[in-house]
Amino acid sequence: MPVESESLLTEDDIHVVPYSREHAKSISENLFEGVPEEVVLSQRAELLSPGPEEVFSVCAIHENEVIGVCTGVRMRWAGSRHRIEMVQVVVNENFRGRGVARLMMQRISEHFSSLEIEIVQISAESTNTRAITAYERIGFRRFGVLKEGIKHDGQYADEIMMAMSNQDFLE
Ligand SMILES: CC(C)(COP(=O)(O)OP(=O)(O)OC[C@H]1O[C@@H](n2cnc3c(N)ncnc32)[C@H](O)[C@@H]1OP(=O)(O)O)[C@@H](O)C(=O)NCCC(=O)NCCS
Repeated sequence: MPVESESLLTEDDIHVVPYSREHAKSISENLFEGVPEEVVLSQRAELLSPGPEEVFSVCAIHENEVIGVCTGVRMRWAGSRHRIEMVQVVVNENFRGRGVARLMMQRISEHFSSLEIEIVQISAESTNTRAITAYERIGFRRFGVLKEGIKHDGQYADEIMMAMSNQDFLE
């Protein structure tokens, strides 16, 4: 499945499309190893249940396989409705560092631009330097560190909080 050169991928190599049920099998096989298709299906159904004005999930497709996923979630409360957060960003390891996350986020940004979204947020565990580097290259800027913002199985990690203008995605 890896493409032949290590060059940047463009929309000629990769199609970014809204998630649909037909992608669950490929997500299970190529991205979320060990997570069965049925679990992907039910998790995505729950994630997307608020509807497309609130949550929008995309898949990056290369040769009919899903090689990346990303989801934009709109903030719910009054005063924060002009903000979305990018969550569950994962790119297959054979395709990392070649612009796939950027393409997926651009598609999500376009989707939300008609809904008056102005600010895009993202966060990463402080030790995830690969993700933080990629997000900074995309244009996100750090605005804070949430100490012990992440908790898995009782273990804490600090969370790097980042944001950028939605307009910057569209230019
Ligand atoms: C984080 C992740 C989603 C980034 O996806 P990606 O497709 O590799 O990111 P992109 O290639 O779009 O990165 C954007 C830019 O950063 C650069 N970049 C990405 N990773 C980089 C790295 N480790 N070092 C230097 N530059 C890097 C890309 O080359 C690209 O450069 P450009 O501005 O010249 O186009 C991916 O690494 C991944 O799936 N990691 C494992 C899961 C994970 O940690 N998810 C995030 C949880 S918060």
